[in-house]
Amino acid sequence: MKLIVAMIQPHMLPDVKQALFDAKVYKMTVTNALGSGQQKGYTETYRGVIHSINLLKKVRIEIAVNEDFVEPTVEAIIKGARTGQIGDGKILVLDLGECVRIRTGERGGEAIG
Ligand SMILES: Nc1ncnc2c1ncn2[C@@H]1O[C@H](COP(=O)(O)OP(=O)(O)OP(=O)(O)O)[C@@H](O)[C@H]1O
Ligand SMILES: [Mg+2]
Repeated sequence: MKLIVAMIQPHMLPDVKQALFDAKVYKMTVTNALGSGQQKGYTETYRGVIHSINLLKKVRIEIAVNEDFVEPTVEAIIKGARTGQIGDGKILVLDLGECVRIRTGERGGEAIG
């Protein structure tokens, strides 16, 4: 099991949601976040002196998946979020130790799926 965490541009969320739906990925958690990447939160055309990072609004998406859904999920996020411009986002894939469906007590892959 993996936990896929993606930070994307907020205005790309509808496209990412649709791409995930098309890939049959329906379970997700979405949170508003603040973030900065390798441009320290500034655009590449910024000319001033940078003394501290600028935190930009981002959307964080978390999706727990079984192994066979890892690549389709990552591909769907890329499809929905990529513009080719800086700040398109980042996807982290983490090993996931356990998942429990509280209602039934199911664990692991049964609980995720
Ligand atoms: N190494 C990192 N650790 C934690 N969060 C990160 C990291 N890199 C990026 N992020 C998060 O992802 C968001 C989007 O990052 P962004 O797409 O700007 O990455 P980048 O490495 O600067 O690539 P690009 O040059 O394409 O902009 C950031 O605002 C931040 O929330
Ligand atoms: Mg960046």
